Amino acid sequence: QKVELELEAIEKGGYPHFMLKEIFGQPKSIADSMRGRIHAGNESIQLGGLTGYFDRLADASRIIFIGCGTSWHAGLVAEYLFEELARVNVEVEYASEFRYRNPVIHPGDVVIAISQSGETADTLAAIELAKENGATILGVCNAVGSSIARATHAGAYLHAGPEIGVASTKAFTSQVTVLALMAIALGRRKGTLPDHTFRELLNGLQSLPGQIEQVLRNSDRIKEIGYIFTYARNFIYLGRGVHFPVALEGALKLKEISYIHAEGYPAAEMKHGPIALIDEDMPVIFIATRDSSYEKIVSNIQEVKARKGRVIAIVTEGDQLIKTLVDFTIEIPWTHEMISPLLSVVPLQLLSYYIAVMRGRNVDQPRNLAKSVTVE
Ligand code: G6P
Repeated sequence: QKVELELEAIEKGGYPHFMLKEIFGQPKSIADSMRGRIHAGNESIQLGGLTGYFDRLADASRIIFIGCGTSWHAGLVAEYLFEELARVNVEVEYASEFRYRNPVIHPGDVVIAISQSGETADTLAAIELAKENGATILGVCNAVGSSIARATHAGAYLHAGPEIGVASTKAFTSQVTVLALMAIALGRRKGTLPDHTFRELLNGLQSLPGQIEQVLRNSDRIKEIGYIFTYARNFIYLGRGVHFPVALEGALKLKEISYIHAEGYPAAEMKHGPIALIDEDMPVIFIATRDSSYEKIVSNIQEVKARKGRVIAIVTEGDQLIKTLVDFTIEIPWTHEMISPLLSVVPLQLLSYYIAVMRGRNVDQPRNLAKSVTVE
């Protein structure tokens, strides 16, 4: 047993938990997900695993993303990316709901299955159903040679390396990275993506590893904020647009490992219910970076402050206005809005990690959860 413990310590590479190692591994895992896929002075994107299937993707009448848990959240981010950049009709489905409905699937549909483990039973069953109905199935998996990777017609691997912590972190950012590459390549191919946006996105992706390092250098501040909020029983996470799925993911991370109740919502939906929960005991986390919904999010923050909620805001570095409105800010560097979830999710991963550690939770193996769910 001693040998096993020592082995585990070596595998953790000096970090107290796999989850922290994996969060801090994201500059590398994201770079690995892009490696060899962006070509010749940023002129093209090549995803080898999709060779022969790219035409079908370009001709798809509809793209349906399926997944579970964090992978479903990556699908939600992809919905914004594929719609905006490639102007294609997109749906995102929980694999478990999709398979037990009587979904309308046409041969012109492309189903993209997202899975870290490649073994999730519901996702696998949803793939079989879509296949029987004649759809083209692509996979975005981490585990090479996994059941889902084998069941799909073609796909793109994440190359994120093994993820041990039950709560998914680096797999999520690699999923979004690979899906962004697919959406950009598709937009380029379909002529829906202007040249300057294409270049801006590729440059943006390549700057991400360095920018994530910058966010990680802020971990002490995030830890302090986590410490202040360790007492909380509930949290609300709010974001708009592409940050709405990030709000869901932030809330899921906190639930999974700290066992604190948390809800993610689109910020504009707050007024249709969650606002009733807000008082001085309710911490509200806003993703409030400088992008197309900045002004709207500022007014959502004001609505929460008017009800004495305690606000932590993820902001773009240099933001002065939000600092004057909220209790705490966490700065992240600016990047193109469409890929900004790759930065905004990182402080939320760290926050949930530190809160869980301070509450004495088993971060890497939270109660009742499994890394890969191979039963229905
Ligand atoms: C489990 C894990 C989650 C994961 C989900 C989907 O519930 O605990 O972290 O997001 O399965 O897993 P997959 O391997 O298909 O991405």
